Amino acid sequence: MKKYLVIGNPISHSLSPTLHNHWIKKNKINAIYEKKQVEKKDLKNIVSEIREGHIQGINVTVPFKKDLIPYMDKLSLEAESTQSINTIYLSDNKIIGHNTDIAGFELSLKKIKYNVYNKKILILGAGGVVSSIIFALQRMKALSITVSNRTREKAEDLKNFFKDILISDWGKISDFDIVINATSIGLNKDDKINLDFSSVDSGKLFYDVIYNPEETDFLKKGKKLGNLTENGKMMFIYQAHQAFTLWHQIMPDINDETIKILNND
Ligand code: ATR
Repeated sequence: MKKYLVIGNPISHSLSPTLHNHWIKKNKINAIYEKKQVEKKDLKNIVSEIREGHIQGINVTVPFKKDLIPYMDKLSLEAESTQSINTIYLSDNKIIGHNTDIAGFELSLKKIKYNVYNKKILILGAGGVVSSIIFALQRMKALSITVSNRTREKAEDLKNFFKDILISDWGKISDFDIVINATSIGLNKDDKINLDFSSVDSGKLFYDVIYNPEETDFLKKGKKLGNLTENGKMMFIYQAHQAFTLWHQIMPDINDETIKILNND
């Protein structure tokens, strides 16, 4: 039986096993997908398990998306450009590190038929997923991307890879068409985002990378002011879909049932 894993710390919240095992069953594949909480010191051994054929594929979540890079034989263009890996597999005896968060984000916008071309983007946060979001937005030809992070230096670091981005102070709401919450504010149901969007015209897109809870305080604020809102559920589904297709060479269905099994609010 083939074995797949998602690793991170913490990992208990991850819905990747639910989704992958659902598709594994639907497609009658002889495989299992599990989650494992690991420490940084375990990463090398876990990767060797792929080389030795004990594990066929690994998904990676916070906080190891960058830490795994030194253990890869090869990075895909997406992983290299973002310095972020979320999908690992063996190909021609080489351990490949790939990034499907980029496609996940891009497809989630295509699903709602949102055209990013020439749009002004404000990203809140500078954590692990932000480089993937910037890469996708640049590929979709956004006009400008401004990153605002509580710790300004972390936003400045992103400039080493993405020279064209702008940096603004935390809390300063620049003019935007899309605002993306990529902070962890909202993961806890009672979290409130301490930003004032009341001066912003309506008709913007408020996008939250968080999908559980389904509607964060950030999305509630956006909706109340008459804006379009989107949570991170489709991004999550599409990144998993890309990894699944890569590993099993089968494109699983995304339908109402898929979306429903992730409703655990
Ligand atoms: P990591 O930074 O390890 O990649 P993450 O969950 O991907 O972790 O990122 C968390 C993001 O949420 C960071 O941008 C963090 O800001 P800092 O870089 O200043 O830590 C942001 N964040 C978390 N709590 C926050 C808060 N209370 N106010 C503002 N930003 C917050």
